[in-house]
Amino acid sequence: MGRKFLVALGGAALALSLAACSGGGAGSGEKSGDEKPSDLTIGVSMPTQTSERWIADGNAVKSKLEAKGYKVDLQYAGDDIPTQSQQVDQMITQGADVLVLAAIDGTALSSQLQAAAAAKIPVISYDRLIRGSKDVDFYVSFDNYKVGVAQGTALLVGLGLLNKDGSKGTAKGPLNVELFAGSLDDNNTQYFFGGAMDTLKPFIENGTLVVKSKQTTPEQVAILRWQQETAQKRMENLLTSSYNDGSKVDGVLSPYDGISRGIITALQNAGYGKGAKKLPVVTGQDAEIASIKLINDGVQSSTVFKDTRLLAEQAVNAAEAFLQKKQPQANDTQTYNNGVKVVPAYLLPIATVYKDDIKATLIDSGYWTAEEVAAGQAKK
Ligand code: BGC
Repeated sequence: MGRKFLVALGGAALALSLAACSGGGAGSGEKSGDEKPSDLTIGVSMPTQTSERWIADGNAVKSKLEAKGYKVDLQYAGDDIPTQSQQVDQMITQGADVLVLAAIDGTALSSQLQAAAAAKIPVISYDRLIRGSKDVDFYVSFDNYKVGVAQGTALLVGLGLLNKDGSKGTAKGPLNVELFAGSLDDNNTQYFFGGAMDTLKPFIENGTLVVKSKQTTPEQVAILRWQQETAQKRMENLLTSSYNDGSKVDGVLSPYDGISRGIITALQNAGYGKGAKKLPVVTGQDAEIASIKLINDGVQSSTVFKDTRLLAEQAVNAAEAFLQKKQPQANDTQTYNNGVKVVPAYLLPIATVYKDDIKATLIDSGYWTAEEVAAGQAKK
């Protein structure tokens, strides 16, 4: 389903994209490329501070740019589309030299992008691809389809249907699972859900996995703005509507740690995690500290770690290339069609984290300390 879903969304603009991607992007800005870093400002727009990852992203981009001497205008939009549009408008009128944008709604910034192009300001789409505009010059992200595959696989491993090495596990179905996806206006959602469903579909089709609610389409399972409370509500509704006959949920596909915590709260309120009523296997994404503690405590099953430090570094490299009138280095020039053009991208690898991986992947790499994991809270 995932690939088809992606093709359907991207297909309409395929012809246009070829023409658009052969253009030179925003290479010919107003500045000469010889300015001192302290004469240049990078506008950085992040969606929200309610999720740790975006705080880490914003801080990392800012500090890495400032370490090179650039000025940085970092803004958070409180997950409000008009606020983000306004903030980006302001960055443009105040003379930003490059924009680094993580959009709330992938299609809502086109008029800002037009203004940026008119002012010859290169635009880097940060983690979430901006759709429907030819004026996106570069994209830095992770391999988002692989994130989805990793989430689907982690659900199967958690349920014992697969082993970590990919071989067949000892568990037998039928097992009850429910599915969640992220915000539909975030371009990443189709990749996450598509990758997960490509992985889970064979197990659903042969009856090993049963989605009792029958809610399997992106529209049915999406959580607007990735909100924890909305996810909790939906899980509560699922429990009431589909599991009031004594049956149990064995696994939940969750695309993001905040959503996972909403799901877990709903399950715990319904008596899961007490006595014989084991909590289902719940997946996640972002390695948020509250969820890493839950994984360490055996409450959440897994998450997908995306090292925001590396993403920030790529954004900084791309910004610097544009400021020096060069094209940033891409490692993917095919996948990310934004509906108008294929945007050259630099994609970073991802890692699944189960309890056993916390030390090697997160603590040894300095992403979280052992104390933070034990407390479930970031120190700074
Ligand atoms: C990001 C995820 C994040 C989600 C919710 C997505 O665009 O790629 O890492 O979990 O937004 O903030």
